[in-house]
Amino acid sequence: MIIILMGVSGCGKTTIGRQLALEQGLPFFDADDFHPKANIKKMKNNLALSDSDRLPWLNTLAEKIFEWENNEGAVLACSALKESYRTILASRHSNILWVFLSGTFEVISERLRKRTSHYMKDTLLQSQFDTLEVPKYGLYVNIENSIDDIIKRISSKLKQMNQSVFGIIGLGVMGKSLSLNMAEKGFNVSVYNRADNGEAQVVSDFLEDNHALKNISGFTELQQFVASLATPRKILIMIKAGKAIDIVIDQLIPFLTKGDIIIDGGNSHYKDTAKRVDYLASKELHFVGCGISGGEEGARKGPSMMPGGSRESYQSIAPILEAISAKDKTGKPCCTYIGPESAGHFVKMIHNGMEYAEMQLLAEVYAIMKISMENEKIAEILSEWRSTDLSSYLLEITIDIFLKKEGNQYVLDSILDAAGNKGTGSWSSKAALDLGSVNNMMSSAVFARYLSSFKQIRQSLSSQLKKDSEAIEEPDIMALKNAYRFARIINHHQGFELLRLASIEYHWKLNLSEIARIWTNGCIIRSDFMDQSVEIFKVYENYFEHQSIFKNLISSENSVKDCVSYSLKYRIPFDTFFASYNYWVSITTENLSANLIQAQRDYFGAHTYQKRDDVSGRYYHTNWLEK
Ligand code: 6PG
Repeated sequence: MIIILMGVSGCGKTTIGRQLALEQGLPFFDADDFHPKANIKKMKNNLALSDSDRLPWLNTLAEKIFEWENNEGAVLACSALKESYRTILASRHSNILWVFLSGTFEVISERLRKRTSHYMKDTLLQSQFDTLEVPKYGLYVNIENSIDDIIKRISSKLKQMNQSVFGIIGLGVMGKSLSLNMAEKGFNVSVYNRADNGEAQVVSDFLEDNHALKNISGFTELQQFVASLATPRKILIMIKAGKAIDIVIDQLIPFLTKGDIIIDGGNSHYKDTAKRVDYLASKELHFVGCGISGGEEGARKGPSMMPGGSRESYQSIAPILEAISAKDKTGKPCCTYIGPESAGHFVKMIHNGMEYAEMQLLAEVYAIMKISMENEKIAEILSEWRSTDLSSYLLEITIDIFLKKEGNQYVLDSILDAAGNKGTGSWSSKAALDLGSVNNMMSSAVFARYLSSFKQIRQSLSSQLKKDSEAIEEPDIMALKNAYRFARIINHHQGFELLRLASIEYHWKLNLSEIARIWTNGCIIRSDFMDQSVEIFKVYENYFEHQSIFKNLISSENSVKDCVSYSLKYRIPFDTFFASYNYWVSITTENLSANLIQAQRDYFGAHTYQKRDDVSGRYYHTNWLEK
């Protein structure tokens, strides 16, 4: 660490510098000792130095500063009155704490008069004040404070500078990637990982593997980890969602102070997050549920980040989160304040629900194509889609997946067709049911994964069915492409409608355009259509109000029917596509058969019903058994 005490002659640079150096265990240097002989002679004759006189002196000091920093650091007393001087001094090393010892002409002149040596005429002192360019950075110290108070102030600043501005708990794939992302952006980061449970080497291995990054501090003791953080502390927990989060929170609380912020960057359930927000608020601490999307690559290079919690805590963490997040097309961070309480985790959950449906649509496209095409051909067709408005991250990786071989075998063909899940898709479906929102595509995608996991049952039942040996014609690819666009629009519509309803229900004031914007990069559902959605939600409440989109849905209807027919003809599960079609047909049909539901409910439960032609909204009951 290099600390430079600067200011006009008589401000106390040397006295304070010597004492500070002692306190910090650093060597002290007086810049005047590095002047060339010619300058010393001039100064002895009370002659002012020119800028050209100072240049060799400043360059020497810059070299020395670089040398001292690569040893143990140093405290330097140097007037450094001009910004141009300070720029030269910092030219070889930028992590300098500038301490400006500020005092009035009267105070300093009085002090100089009391000096036995180093007497300076007031005229020279005045010329120093005239030359002084007060820095717009560093630590300002009023020299009328006591030396002890000044030293305390500088030491406290040093402690804060040497501390980390962000702490990350959990060095799993995401925790490591986010730590490296943050450190590479120049932030001092502290990382913590438990040392039990066979994880004793995790921290030391991580530091060893990344020893080039000097601004990462590693800990296996929680109290030391917390002590290494500048206040208000910002601690990101990157561990598996569930009870473990609560355990870590309770371990942290005794070491935290008012105003500290705990951030949960995992896929926690929004209702758990809501409880944690309240729990920590009762202890005058902040809790932020932050959705983080983009997987390992996103975390390393720039994820999409969805922090909720209080706006006050967002102001505090935003500079760092926005620095590490992905950037949209205009260079803005794909990170924004989502809304209060657990809004951040709710939005991430819906991101995942939409992700499930997007993935299932591609799986159903594959199901339609694979009965008559090889993987190469499928990849070729999808690559054409990739250069259209259908382009997306998921389409890109799917094309790569179709082409990936190990030896002569396609990797895809060797993968067991039983899909896993960590829960966020089913949570989205439950949230929709709770809110009375229709998200049949997300639910369909969840059920498709569940059905796929019943592999043994499927094998057993399949073996009892007669196989159809009818020749298989290739599907209508144009119809499939139109149906894919249709279903994606409906999926996005259902996702954003659910967000809109949640925003009303929970009073979150969600900004759908901003949410679409932070989903244009870094996250799994980033796509060309998401780019379009940013502008759409600035004007419209939902996609159906956008005339060209609505017309496209109408014109694509027959394509969807053709694909559903193809799936029926060849017994191909196609439920998520059909869910989009069924949603569309239902929402665009004036008279559904739900009048029969009302009649049935009234028949057996006297739940009453309204009449088509009674606009008063009055409810009726019929005595169905009366003859
Ligand atoms: C993301 C992903 C991420 C996770 C998936 C996997 O946005 O980066 O969605 O959160 O990898 O959610 O979840 P499943 O195991 O449920 O598919």
